[in-house]
Amino acid sequence: MKSKKDLSVNFLGVKFKNPFCLSSSPVGNCYEMCAKAFELGWGGIVYKTLLKTPSYECSPRYDILTKEDLPWVGFKNMEQLTEHNLEDDLRDITRLKKEYPDGVIIASIMAKTEEDWTEMARLVEQAGADMIELNFSCPQMTDSDLGSAIGQKPEVCKRFCQAVKRGTKLPVIAKMTPNITDMCEPAIASIEGGADAISAINTIKSICNVDLDKKVGLPIVNGKSSISGYSGKAVKPIALRFIQQLRDNERLKDVPISGIGGIETWEDAAEFILLGATTLQITTAIMQYGYRIIDDLCDGLQHYMEEQKVDSLHELVGVANKNIIPAEDLDRDYRVYPEFDYKKCVGCGRCYISCFDGSHQAIEFDLKKRKPTCNKDKCVGCLLCSNVCPVKAISKGEIRFKQGKGENRNTEDIIV
Ligand SMILES: Cc1cc2nc3c(=O)[nH]c(=O)nc-3n(C[C@H](O)[C@H](O)[C@H](O)COP(=O)(O)O)c2cc1C
Repeated sequence: MKSKKDLSVNFLGVKFKNPFCLSSSPVGNCYEMCAKAFELGWGGIVYKTLLKTPSYECSPRYDILTKEDLPWVGFKNMEQLTEHNLEDDLRDITRLKKEYPDGVIIASIMAKTEEDWTEMARLVEQAGADMIELNFSCPQMTDSDLGSAIGQKPEVCKRFCQAVKRGTKLPVIAKMTPNITDMCEPAIASIEGGADAISAINTIKSICNVDLDKKVGLPIVNGKSSISGYSGKAVKPIALRFIQQLRDNERLKDVPISGIGGIETWEDAAEFILLGATTLQITTAIMQYGYRIIDDLCDGLQHYMEEQKVDSLHELVGVANKNIIPAEDLDRDYRVYPEFDYKKCVGCGRCYISCFDGSHQAIEFDLKKRKPTCNKDKCVGCLLCSNVCPVKAISKGEIRFKQGKGENRNTEDIIV
């Protein structure tokens, strides 16, 4: 049997046996949960955010966005931080480190004053954590000076990073909020303040659904609801966009990144790595499917490494960054037309309807034979047809360049 690829990564000088970590949330709430995750093979855990005083939470606290037969497109939560006493959480971290010395333990912390940030950092280092994540990003704190309110103010991020560094020698990760236009500003400020890495993203402020009879957003907490964080598969595109922007920034391009947001499968994980993440954090997929997803995540990523002929995941980190370019630099003389695989086509006509109603009326449909064809004089090559085809019968076909512009191009070099 072929030996499996080594998934280990080095992040801030600490070895993770694989890049997969629980992200800070209820999935890493206590000793028993984290111990089970380590037993099942997770590389690291980011413990549920510690605060001096436990959060007072509401009930119910979750809602889901569904679409057709997909139960969880996105997930909304109204939860804040730890519900335990600080001493209990610190005791659990110490026990975990003792019993799982090879598992990486990242203590997530939040505080209100500089003194408290320093003190919390000192306490989690004493408890045995391997590194610290600063929660600058929870979007539903009941105290308006905390959470994403910090992450939206770069100068506050810098001050709190400096305060943390006064209390610890451990590596420090600043966790960013996506509820901001330019994440690079707080990220740069955090690095200037002494943070060693950035993690992104925390949840996105949302209202998932409104109850049509009761006229209240969901979930309903004794008659009312509130705006709060959205996560899961639906946020992956937004997370990837932020990570690309961090890597694209001159001052951040070499800063290690822990990628978070909508990772469910090994393919999602590989995408985050290709855009620059070295470690990966997951919550929503674990809440839906349990820690056991680690098997598929690891197997799939190892298989991908085989395919890509790499021996270390580090060889893949950020490989795709250079291929995300500004809109003005895209080759707009390039056109790719649809190619139909009539063996796969089921004649449903969805390509025809979408092209007629949502694009350029370029698909013609023979009603008797139930067969689509493309009129290339009208087709703009948007490939909406291929996106709506339910059986993947439409692929990229002929490539043309605007007359005169593509003559010297070697079409074999073109990535389609
Ligand atoms: C129920 C719930 C509670 C969370 N609690 C925290 C928290 O205490 N600290 C924190 O930094 N992030 C918290 N998060 C955010 C997650 O760590 C993560 O950043 C986010 O959910 C996106 O990842 P996902 O799509 O894999 O869930 C929480 C998320 C959820 C769903």
